[in-house]
Amino acid sequence: MIATFLVLDYDIISGFLLEYALSKPWQELHSQLMNQQSNTQTDRDARQLRSHRWFGPDDLRSFGHRSRLKGMGIDDADFRGKPIIALVNTWSDLNTCHSHFPQRVDEIKRGVLQAGGFPVEVPAISLGEMLMKPTTMLYRNLLSMETEELLRCNPIDGAVLMGGCDKTVPALIMGAISADIPSIFFPAGPMLKAHWKNETLGSGSDAWKFWAERCAGNLCDGDWNAIENCIARSAGTCMTMGTASTMACIAETLGLTLSGASSIPAVVAEHSRLAVATGRRAVELAWSNLRPSRFITPQSIDNAIMTQLTIGGSTNAIVHIIAMAGRAGIALSLDRFDELSEKVPVLADLRPSGRFLMEDFHQAGGLAALLSRLQDVLNLDCPTVGGTTLGGQIAGAEVLNDQVIRTRDNPLWRTGGTCILRGNLAPNGCVIKTVAAESRLLTHRGPALVFDNYPELKSKINDPDLPVTQDTVLILRSAGPLGAPGFPEWGMLPIPQKLLKAGVRDMVRISDARMSGTSYGTCVLHVSPESHLGGPLALIRDGDIVELHVPHRRLNWLVDDAEIARRKAAWQPPTNRWNRGYNKLFANHVTQAHEGCDFDFLAGRSPGAEPDIF
Ligand code: FES
Repeated sequence: MIATFLVLDYDIISGFLLEYALSKPWQELHSQLMNQQSNTQTDRDARQLRSHRWFGPDDLRSFGHRSRLKGMGIDDADFRGKPIIALVNTWSDLNTCHSHFPQRVDEIKRGVLQAGGFPVEVPAISLGEMLMKPTTMLYRNLLSMETEELLRCNPIDGAVLMGGCDKTVPALIMGAISADIPSIFFPAGPMLKAHWKNETLGSGSDAWKFWAERCAGNLCDGDWNAIENCIARSAGTCMTMGTASTMACIAETLGLTLSGASSIPAVVAEHSRLAVATGRRAVELAWSNLRPSRFITPQSIDNAIMTQLTIGGSTNAIVHIIAMAGRAGIALSLDRFDELSEKVPVLADLRPSGRFLMEDFHQAGGLAALLSRLQDVLNLDCPTVGGTTLGGQIAGAEVLNDQVIRTRDNPLWRTGGTCILRGNLAPNGCVIKTVAAESRLLTHRGPALVFDNYPELKSKINDPDLPVTQDTVLILRSAGPLGAPGFPEWGMLPIPQKLLKAGVRDMVRISDARMSGTSYGTCVLHVSPESHLGGPLALIRDGDIVELHVPHRRLNWLVDDAEIARRKAAWQPPTNRWNRGYNKLFANHVTQAHEGCDFDFLAGRSPGAEPDIF
């Protein structure tokens, strides 16, 4: 009869079940099961587990929950009285950076089982940076919401967050912060270094570099094809210090990964062992009820900012750190990045700012070794999921290569790798990655050449008659959170072909877009408010003089106030193209770049109510 129940719809048979549940045979069976459960328990009380609400009570609903697991071939000995650990897996066949996750799932599950937990794999939307259009940033908040709700609505005591490719990292962490259920982050790890002729190649950064040479007529088809065939050498994330590696380092600094996790290459045995150890640790976190709220504090957020600065990390991390802090109820202004920038030099000599790649960084000692050189400025008491503190995690770490991880008296850049600028062209702020720009351009004055949108930029940039010199300031509008839509990585505007042929490789470029963490150049990004909302970029015209002064943190537009007011009065807001579905939700609720681009209704430490109807 039980077998019959397992294949029928629960609601249809619930009345019949109630009658059966009160019968003697079931009571005897239940009593046997409870005895088995007590035999498998140690000194830990299963009633403290969140999943106990689903599986523990001697009532009809719990009977249903248990019986359906048994219908999948899962026995009491598998799950009763054990922490249920969810592997939130952002794998898909279309996510090129997570192609090794099926094997890692098996390894994480092995670790969970070793530690006496019960692993369950829970798929979540996979944000593959290379193939998703218009941009994965459009979907970061969707994955964060999915993560939060998956964790909340299911019988989950702890989670392993499996991500790596750019937006998956902040999205999973944002969701876990909001759900506030014990969670540990498992980074996908970077690809192995690529080799071509006598050079090492880094994904993204070297693609941009060689594309510029190809446009300048310096690279033949054969070489270009050879680079295409080898630049992505293995599974894993971009092996430069792009957004994925930056966010992995930030996750480790926040105390959300095991020590050393951020730089282990994706396809080496050490990464498999990390997976097993992460699974084991997730079980302990669940028993200890160590929630993200223990780890995400103003002090750990400062540590995360200092990490972003010292690794010469991606500008995207600024948006993501603000959003993660916001989920924890921590108000974070762009100004905090600039304040800490004064304290922290760039010590990681990694592309796109420097010379080396993530594999070199790992062999040089990785993040722990780097942070050991900043102990005087970091908040060392912040706890970590490994059961120690940040200070404990980096104690004894040793830098094994001073070229890759520079000393304090020989930094790659004297201050942090990014700066915040303000001025009449960016009243709410904007960002520049100074360490990846040509120094001579950090103080610059030149005439604007404005592109209304990305299609116009693409169609005109290589026009031989384009009125442009190396002093021109290229400007792209309609590329922000609302305008693009979705805040794409268009901020590294291409150098016009006629200038490439003349040897120009950097120019001042300004937009309300983001740029890839693997990109470089004198690119002013995240201008806020964006042009779509009538920000200054919407009003600037060809020939207006723009002044960039990074030492003074200024970005100004040398047009008098009366003229600006005239243009503003004449400006017509663009029509909103989004009127349905997720895109409409995004358009109605996304905040501006300086606010983290989270949805306005998701900010603040306000975990939703636990399910209370069973
Ligand atoms: Fe996935 Fe770069 S494309 S990390």
